[in-house]
Parts: sequence; structure tokens; C-alpha cells
Amino acid sequence: MSNPSLLILPGDGIGPEVMTEVKRIIDWFGAKRDLAFDVEEDLVGGCAYDKHGTPLHDDTMAKALQVDAVLLGAVGGPKYDNLDFSVKPERGLLRLRKEMDLYSNLRPAQCFDALADFSSLKKDIVAGLDIMIVRELTSGVYFGEPRGIFEEGNERVGINTQRYTESEIDRVARSAFELARRRNNKVCSMEKANVMESGILWREVVQKVRDTDYPDVELTHMYADNGAMQLVRAPKQFDVIVTDNLFGDILSDCAAMLTGSLGMLPSASLGAPNADGRPKALYEPVHGSAPDIAGQGKANPIACILSFAMALRYSFDQGDEAARLEAAVEKVLADGVRTADLLGEEGVTPVSTTGMGDAILAALDASL
Ligand code: IPM
Ligand code: MG
Repeated sequence: MSNPSLLILPGDGIGPEVMTEVKRIIDWFGAKRDLAFDVEEDLVGGCAYDKHGTPLHDDTMAKALQVDAVLLGAVGGPKYDNLDFSVKPERGLLRLRKEMDLYSNLRPAQCFDALADFSSLKKDIVAGLDIMIVRELTSGVYFGEPRGIFEEGNERVGINTQRYTESEIDRVARSAFELARRRNNKVCSMEKANVMESGILWREVVQKVRDTDYPDVELTHMYADNGAMQLVRAPKQFDVIVTDNLFGDILSDCAAMLTGSLGMLPSASLGAPNADGRPKALYEPVHGSAPDIAGQGKANPIACILSFAMALRYSFDQGDEAARLEAAVEKVLADGVRTADLLGEEGVTPVSTTGMGDAILAALDASL
């Protein structure tokens, strides 16, 4: 049997640096765990624009549709701020999400014990936090038509459309309920049913899916603004949160910051299963391209490494190996190894991106 295939898209800014560490981890699993991958690498974002005049070449898109999983670093940077909207680096990422039909975006917000002091909230509010945001990723106001900037009388009007079909809500709700069953069996759905019809439909469909097929899962509903408030007031009340594309974008940044370390959070974007039962999938850190520190060897590679752990779990059915990698990361943090974004304790000298990779590889070796 051939090896499972991975397409690696390091992208822009710190993307290539953090991905270099992930590639070393991938090699480690090949050498030490008999888990080899066929890896191809390509361009996305600004670097693809520089080479091809488009943030995602059609050949790259075609490859992404063929492989078992895509790993992405980050896209964007100030150099591309003034590009036409249609060729901005972000459009490359949005095209991947849409054409791979990655409707379910899993964004865990987990507070590592060793880092609870880094949160802007009090330690006891966040210590032990472990929530999962399931963000709908291929519809809603990000993609709804009509959209654009139009002339209307003697002025212009900017239009975007929030649009959800029942089936789009149904499938992402199922994905949230399935996850909840493997966690603490609780889902909170967030929308603005008090002001938006799409929110009324969202609430109805999520409730129906639960009543019909997941009666064992506890479901609550919250207006998204209240949800944002509750996330900073008492985040541990949540287990799984399911929400639409735009609210999910905002709420997941908010949840990420609770953990005090945006540089630590991975994500998985999953689509419908292929014939072999594997979901189409793209894994990426939640952090962006951080152009201010790019190329300096300062970036924290942990979010990208944990994204590969999610790939092991959700694409390759290697939950034990994912847990091994996650435990190695936790060990390194407990030992006090810190990249520059995690400083704050007295007398700690930061390690470089490579230094963090070295420490995690050593912890992996020690796990054998
Ligand atoms: C994210 C980002 C993207 C989004 C951008 C880069 C298009 O903020 O993944 O959360 O808005 O979805
Ligand atoms: Mg975002």
C-alpha cells in the first residue's frame, strides 16, 4: 500500500519557519514510528502571487483535492495590502476552503497548565480550559450572493449577504454533535436569532438535528453577543460551541486569547468523507503570518505542530500518535522551554523556532 499523502503549503511570513519544524516532526514519525508520508510542497498566498500572479495556482488547487490532507502555514503580509481584492493572499485560503468544501472548522481553545499565567484573565477562570469551537466555514456572509460595491443613486453601497441553507446548517451541526459525544456531550449553538432570519433557521435546524439523531447530547442556544460575553466571563461552562462562519471567526479569536497563547492553537477544517472514509481536510495554525517577526527565528512552531497532531487524529486515525505528540509538547512546556511569545517569567531565556523543534523532538525520543 502506498503511503498517505500530504500537501504542505508553508505560505508567507512565519509560515515557512514554523513548517520547517513540522517537517522534522513528520520525518521523525516516518523514521521512528513506521508512519511515513508522501509529502509534496507548494505555494499559497503572497508567495504564490509573486510567482504566478495568483494566490493559488490551479495546479496547486488540483493537488489539494487529490491528497489525503493539506497542511498550511499562514498567508498574507503588508507587502500585499494594496493588491486587488481578487488576488489578495487570503483569497487563496478561501478558495481552498470552498473548493475542498471544508465546511466544519474545528478550533480548540485549550489552556496548558504551564501557561495559565499568560492569559489576560485570572488564572482560576482559565486553568484547565478545554473548549472546541466548530465554525461553519464554506458559507454564510463570507460567500453569500449578492456581494460587491455598487452604485446606487449618487453614492456607492457595499453589500454582503448572510445566507444559509438547511443542509449547510444540518451538516455542521452533525459534526458538532459527533465531536461532543467524544468529549463532554454538550453543545452550545450561537447565532443572532433575535435579529436575523438566518439565525432563526440556524436555531431550528440545529435543534431538529439534536432531537432527531442526538437526543443524548445536551444542547443550549445563545445569542452570539451574549456568547462573546460568556466566553470571557466563565469560559469553562462550554464544551463544544457551534456557530456560523463570521461569528465563528470572531468568537474563535476571542477564545484563543483566553488561553494566553495564540501561538499555541491549531485548527482542522474538515469536509465530507471520501470513498475511503477519510474527510477532505486542511490543517493550519490559528495564528497568522506575523510579518513583524518573520525570518528572525523567533516564531513559536507549536500551533503548526499541534495542527499536524490533529491531522494524525482526524485524517489518519492515529489518535495514539497524536496524543504522543501532544504529550511531548506539554512536557516541553512543563520543563519551561519558551519561545519569545511566551516570556514573562523571571530569568527565562527564549529558545528559537528551531530550538523549540529540537526540544519537542527530544521529548518524542524520550517517549519511546
Ligand atoms: C481565520 C482568518 C481568515 C478568516 C482570513 C485570513 C481570511 O481570520 O482563519 O480566522 O477570516 O477566515
Ligand atoms: Mg480569523
